[in-house]
Formats: sequence, C-alpha cells, structure tokens
Amino acid sequence: MTQASLFGPAQAGKGQQVCRFRPGFEAWQPAARRLLAQGIAPQDVWWQPDSQAPVDDDAPAPPAPRVPRVFLDMARAASCHSQPDRWALLYSLLWRLTHGERHLMQLGGDAQIVRLTAYVKAVRRDVHKMKAFVRFRAVTENDGQTRYVAWFEPAHFIVEYAAGFFSRRFSNMRWSILTPLGCAHWEGADAGGLWFSAPVDRGAAPDGDALEDAWQVYYRSIFNPARVKVRAMQSEMPRKYWKNLPEARLIPQLLREADRRVSTMQARPASEERLHCGPRPDSPGETLARATASAGDALSALALRAQACRGCPLWEPATQTVFGEGPARARIMLVGEQPGDQEDLAGRPFVGPAGELLDRALAAAGLDRGQLYVTNAVKHFKFEPRGKRRIHAKPSARDIAACRPWVEAELRAVDPAIVVCLGLSAGLAMLDRPLTLNRSRGQWIEQDARQYLLTAHPAYLLRLPDRRRRQVEYDRFVSELALAAQAA
Ligand code: URA
Repeated sequence: MTQASLFGPAQAGKGQQVCRFRPGFEAWQPAARRLLAQGIAPQDVWWQPDSQAPVDDDAPAPPAPRVPRVFLDMARAASCHSQPDRWALLYSLLWRLTHGERHLMQLGGDAQIVRLTAYVKAVRRDVHKMKAFVRFRAVTENDGQTRYVAWFEPAHFIVEYAAGFFSRRFSNMRWSILTPLGCAHWEGADAGGLWFSAPVDRGAAPDGDALEDAWQVYYRSIFNPARVKVRAMQSEMPRKYWKNLPEARLIPQLLREADRRVSTMQARPASEERLHCGPRPDSPGETLARATASAGDALSALALRAQACRGCPLWEPATQTVFGEGPARARIMLVGEQPGDQEDLAGRPFVGPAGELLDRALAAAGLDRGQLYVTNAVKHFKFEPRGKRRIHAKPSARDIAACRPWVEAELRAVDPAIVVCLGLSAGLAMLDRPLTLNRSRGQWIEQDARQYLLTAHPAYLLRLPDRRRRQVEYDRFVSELALAAQAA
C-alpha cells in the first residue's frame, strides 16, 4: 500500500474547489480553517492530499473555530486512517460543529460520528500493535555508534502520530522505525530529536542482530504451554505481524511441544511449581556472553530488549521497563522487589522514598551506591489505580517468574561475587530454595559459586509505625549491608 494509491485520482466534482495540502493533520487543519472562514461548505470542497503541495508558511493564520477538545483529539487520530474520505469527513464534522450542531459529538448514533469513531478505533488499535510489536535490532553506523532499527508494517498512517511514544520510551538511544508508510528517527533529545523520512521497503531494515538468539531464548522461556490459548493469542498477536517478529518463528514449534511440556510440568513437585510457572529457561546470559564483547554492551543491549518485553501483562499499564543500573563489573548486586511509582516514571531503580532510605543505609554501611549494580526482581511497576493514585501491588510468583530470565541475564553479565536480596520477593526470585525472612535474614547463602545475603526491604522499614522499632530495624539493616561491604 502506498500513500498515492490510497488517495486515488483527484476527481473534483463540478463546481467543487480543490484543496491541495500536504498529507497530515498539521497541514489539513489550517487549510480547513481557511475554508471555514471563507464559508465554503463541505460539499463544495475536494480534498486532495499531495506531498508536493506548497507550504504556505507566510499566510496569515486562519481563525481557530471553537470546537470541543474531544473532536480535535479524535480528528487527529482519524486523520491517520487509510481511508481517502477521512479529510472530507473531518471537514464535514467541523462544519456541522460550527454551524448550529455544537453537541454533535454527543450523538453516538449519527452516521458521521459512527464513522469517525470507527476510524479512531482502528488507528488506536494499529498504534497499540506498533507499540507491542516493534522489535529493534542493533546496527553499527559509520561513526561507530549503535543505532537500533526496527521494521513495522502499519495498516494506517500512524508513524508520526505514534513516534512520540517511542521517543519518550527510548530516549537514551538512537533509533529508526522503518515502514512502508514513512519512517521515524530519533537522534536523542540534544541531537536533533525526532525526524521523519519517506517510506522504504523491507530490505532497508536489518533481519537480525547479535542478540536475536537471546531474544528467542527469552521468548521460549516465557511461553507457558499450560496457559496457551491459541485463539486468544492470535487475536492479540494476529498472524500478519508474525513475519516481522523474531519470536514468532518459534510459535509453531512451541505449540507442537505444548502438550508434552504440560505433562512434564504436571509431573514436577508442587514446591518447584510454586515459583516457576513454566519450565526454567536456559539463561539468556549464555547467549549474550557469546554475542557481545563486554558486559557493558551486554547490559545496554539487554536493557533495550527489556523495554520491548511483553512477557507478562504488567508492561501495559506501566510507563516503562525499569532495568538495573550500575557498573558492568560491580562486585555487589542489589536486588529489590519491583519499581515503585517514582521509579516507573523515572525509569531508574530505587529513586523514590525507599531509594532514599537505601542510599542512607548504604552510606552508613560504608558502601558507595555508584559502585553497586542495583536492580529489581520484577521490571515493571505493578499497581492498582485508586483515583489519581497508583497503589503498589505485590508481584505474584508468576510475575517474578516471568521476569526471572532478565535478572538472570543481568547476573551473568555483571557476574557479581555478592548478591544482596532486599526483601523476601527478591530472595525467592534469586535463590532456588524455600525461604522465610525471619530464618534466613542476615545469613550468607552460597549458590552457584556466589554469596547471597537476604535482608529487609527498605520499604518495609518505612512502613513500620513505631519509631523505636523502626530505628532498631534500620540499624539491623545497616549492619547486614555492612556484612556485604566487609565481604566485598
Ligand atoms: N522498591 C523496590 O523494590 N525497587 C525499587 O526500585 C523501588 C522500590
């Protein structure tokens, strides 16, 4: 599908005025306002989008008509629809809103409102799929820097409309999203920001990268054969997207294997089942170690992949994946439970109130946070909305299991001598044994040639209502962190 073929030939009717404009809401809006100011009725206009149309920057700004905000929002979305009649529809609605039908947007049964709503829905669905199914691949550019490039085939002209989401979520890297309906590029906030270019063919995008295997291992690990519902999966991930999703190549085989894997899972003891809702994966870290030269590269590549993680439903309401941070060769790794409200917004672990307390306790224990790798067992903020607030919800064993390949990959990449687990959820995520905080707190546990220490979670200390008890617990927390400092 190309833009030109969709618009078809310009066929202005008799007596109709042809309005040529650059395709896109930004150019349509002033053109529509100008026609409106001249009193030109919808049936007297022929809308002709044309990428060669002159840009008339010097023309005086036409007056902005008073229309409901909801119309503007819907019109902006509907303008991305692939139906050529959308511009005429929008102008007709604009005309009616400003010619005695001020409450038009409330008439859900009006034929034009029905059409507008259908266009908006289709565009929003397409944007949702783009957010879910864009897969970046690392490409080294001529200047030696890495650019992350993705290929996507939208159904509508959504690239510019959706690009803001990607620039916010992937603000720290250079990326390009290539599509047959136009391309978006991000150079970083200080280096030109967002820009757009003409459509390209599939061949312009890379087919894979050094981390493709890691991604496949990860997908295999989060694919739970006991929960697979083929119909639901295909409605969420329609087949037409499969060809551009590296993990989708695995689906037919995973479906074939599902029954056998379920039988194996059912035969496993219940205690093992409790934490790991699917078979434990080979760690993506092994593939990463082969695929990337240094731990630093591995971590940034992992962090990027994790941004696109859809391994459990927590990604959708969260703002972003909050990956670990710190030196790639830290001797100590701190593992928390999950990001909180402030971490979710900032995209960094332990920056809210629990993080402040943690920083104080680390300093008191003689540890420099800058020397530690700090991460969480679960990478997305899980919460329940209450009014305007987002209330922390405890991650389930399934949430922890879904995220486990990420934390394992971090462990492999950083390879710390000591892992400090902040709270029981972190301990259960990291240690393959039954644990209670009371029994295991403050004791060294060896696993896979690494020393683990379980201690309290700083948020637990913050919640203690009694001041004296809080002080006692804080002192104990500091003394346990000091054990890690001494051992390191
Ligand atoms: N609590 C955590 O466990 N992790 C964070 O990053 C913040 C609060």
